[in-house]
Amino acid sequence: MLIRKRRGWEIPESQVTPEHVFFNRRRFLQAAGFGAAGIAASAMVGRGAHADETIPTADLYPAARNDRYMVERAITPEKVNTTYNNFYEFGSHKRIYDNAQDLVVRPWTVTVDGMVAKPKVWDIDDLIRTAGVEERVYRHRCVEAWSMVVPWTGFPLSKLVEMAEPQAGAKYVRFETFLDPDMASGQRQDWQPWPYVEGVTVEEAANELPLLVTGAYGKPLPKQMGAPIRLHLPWKYGFKSIKSIVKVTLTDQRPVSFWETLQAREYGFWANVNPEVDHPRWSQASEEVLGADRRIPTVIYNGYGDYVAHLYKGMEDQRSTFM
Ligand code: MTE
Repeated sequence: MLIRKRRGWEIPESQVTPEHVFFNRRRFLQAAGFGAAGIAASAMVGRGAHADETIPTADLYPAARNDRYMVERAITPEKVNTTYNNFYEFGSHKRIYDNAQDLVVRPWTVTVDGMVAKPKVWDIDDLIRTAGVEERVYRHRCVEAWSMVVPWTGFPLSKLVEMAEPQAGAKYVRFETFLDPDMASGQRQDWQPWPYVEGVTVEEAANELPLLVTGAYGKPLPKQMGAPIRLHLPWKYGFKSIKSIVKVTLTDQRPVSFWETLQAREYGFWANVNPEVDHPRWSQASEEVLGADRRIPTVIYNGYGDYVAHLYKGMEDQRSTFM
């Protein structure tokens, strides 16, 4: 029996959102019938206890922008993005940026294992230099019906998977975040299924869009955004974009994610953005553009249908593809 604890996107809006955004969102939610519920470019990162962590690959930022991946909307101000985050390892609210400075991001390794010919434990900076980085501007749409536009720096997930040489029977790529309750206070919540896990199919992983993100706004990735390496899947709801990855496993078993374990009816495996398939407790028809004080209609696959719609051919009628 699932313990129904309120999560960040269920806590009162006034506790989690800047005032101007809150009033805007509350107007929308009331109209929709929800009431008030619902949902340095330097060699150092962070501040506080670990401010002296050196980032050996800091010289790679800012990276050249790849103009193939542009967005017609304005980039979300950096300050908005770095102060409004979901990172349950450091708390179940949006203002986790202070707590997240406890995250120690060096040394850091990423283990690639499972059904591959070349398993490897990568030192994070060797991985970043080997793969090389570029900047891509992507839309970022949370299941909570807010969105941002982010200049990420990173490299395609397909590069990492190819270097590992997957075996023929591999069907999925499973990702895992670190597990360290001493460092991350949120992981002391033992009713939650730590560590955070996510997954995609090998076909999705081979697509050109999935980005392993190591930086944002022309700098190494801030801790609260999932340093030193996180995934971004721009056509899926944001919870699929797992942060602070330590393990990537090729497998023939479909991964069961953190959120699916907690509430499968609300947070499924595919989680493709679709304005016509509502979350069981709120509409997905529109989204609040954070930092811009306005709502816009949500677009199927978050506007990336030309890149990914073919992956779901024949599944378009399945509600689960969009949950
Ligand atoms: N990854 C981990 N490890 N822990 C989390 O709590 N939250 C997810 C996703 N990745 C989360 C995570 C959710 S719900 C969203 S919307 C995005 O990260 C938020 O990314 P952002 O804070 O950079 O906007």
